[in-house]
Amino acid sequence: MSNQSSWNDEYQKPQLITQSHKPQKDFLRFIKWIKKNKHLDLSAGLTALDLGCGVGRNSYYLADHYGIEVMGWDFSSDAIAKAIKFHRHENVTFQERNIAKPFPLEDDSVDLILDVTSSNALNEKERQVYLSECARVLKPDGYMYVRTLAKEGDKNAQNMVKEFPGGEYDTYHHPQLGVTERIFSGPDFKVLYEQYLEVVRMERKTGYQRWGSQSYKRNYWNAYLKSKK
Ligand SMILES: C[S@@+](CC[C@H](N)C(=O)[O-])C[C@H]1O[C@@H](n2cnc3c(N)ncnc32)[C@H](O)[C@@H]1O
Repeated sequence: MSNQSSWNDEYQKPQLITQSHKPQKDFLRFIKWIKKNKHLDLSAGLTALDLGCGVGRNSYYLADHYGIEVMGWDFSSDAIAKAIKFHRHENVTFQERNIAKPFPLEDDSVDLILDVTSSNALNEKERQVYLSECARVLKPDGYMYVRTLAKEGDKNAQNMVKEFPGGEYDTYHHPQLGVTERIFSGPDFKVLYEQYLEVVRMERKTGYQRWGSQSYKRNYWNAYLKSKK
């Protein structure tokens, strides 16, 4: 089964994804950091791109709190249907779109890009398209937030790489979700992302991944990046 149909199944019968309408907590810390350091003036007039937006909780937050124009993209039609149902907002456009395909956007047209635990499901080739497209559309003074799966200190992830190898380096085929995911060591993440963007800050945090009524400890990178232009 493809990653796309596995995600659609997940949205039809959610076992892993949050049912919460609240924005992701680590993403809120990034927003706080942007405000504190005055990196961007978060207000109407800015444009944001939420890659793998899911049910749109983070897109909605940016639009509702700051009046930002947001494009929320996800390749799951079920996710987009839920996003439109639960997080409709006049400043947000939700679209069914694959983030591993060229973005239909002008160069230097986006102020803020979010990738909240989405691109870890891309394969190597897809990740190159996604990264070069993010770098291309991000404005010279633009910022990007990436929350992704960490390798260090995550026994569950390391076991899955051994037991259910996904075919490429540091990947596993998630036994329940059915999605192939990449985990990143800090140095690997930096080397890869710095080909396209500047990594300004990176911190590892422990979180919990749910499966039905159980939850598993997982480690995540929170990376704050900016354009190199
Ligand atoms: C863990 S969920 C996170 C959803 C959302 N970012 C949030 O924080 O609520 C990952 C999302 O990435 C989407 N996704 C994975 N690969 C994708 C791709 N190639 N193109 C578009 N969306 C993708 C999935 O459909 C899923 O909705």
